[in-house]
Amino acid sequence: MAYSEKLMDHYEHPRNVGTLDVKDDNVGTGMVGAPACGDVMRLQIKVNDEGVIEDAKFKTYGCGSAIASSSLVTEWVKGKTLDEAGQLTNAAIAEELALPPVKIHCSILAEDAIKAAINDYRNKQSKE
Ligand code: FES
Ligand code: FES
Repeated sequence: MAYSEKLMDHYEHPRNVGTLDVKDDNVGTGMVGAPACGDVMRLQIKVNDEGVIEDAKFKTYGCGSAIASSSLVTEWVKGKTLDEAGQLTNAAIAEELALPPVKIHCSILAEDAIKAAINDYRNKQSKE
């Protein structure tokens, strides 16, 4: 199977690998697993007072397409508002990375992870 250059680039040089402090009220954490293959992805965002995502980190225990998808998402959401980031779709990820059909679920994992991170952040805010 031939993978796109963009996919290989994100796979070999993943952006924003790491961890943000889960106890920080400005940090939202999304942790999702893919039932199809058991891969797990954690994506975190740090949101500033204006509601803009100023930092994003991920850790993915999974296949190359899942790693590339999460790497791409962390790049995309930085500088975006929560509403903008929430509109990100797996189709856009799959298109950007030219994912083959069997790897579409890897991009769905990344969409689910960013949505979960946004929800977690919003839940934290509403508890304050
Ligand atoms: Fe093997 Fe995802 S199925 S790493
Ligand atoms: Fe399952 Fe990629 S996330 S194979």
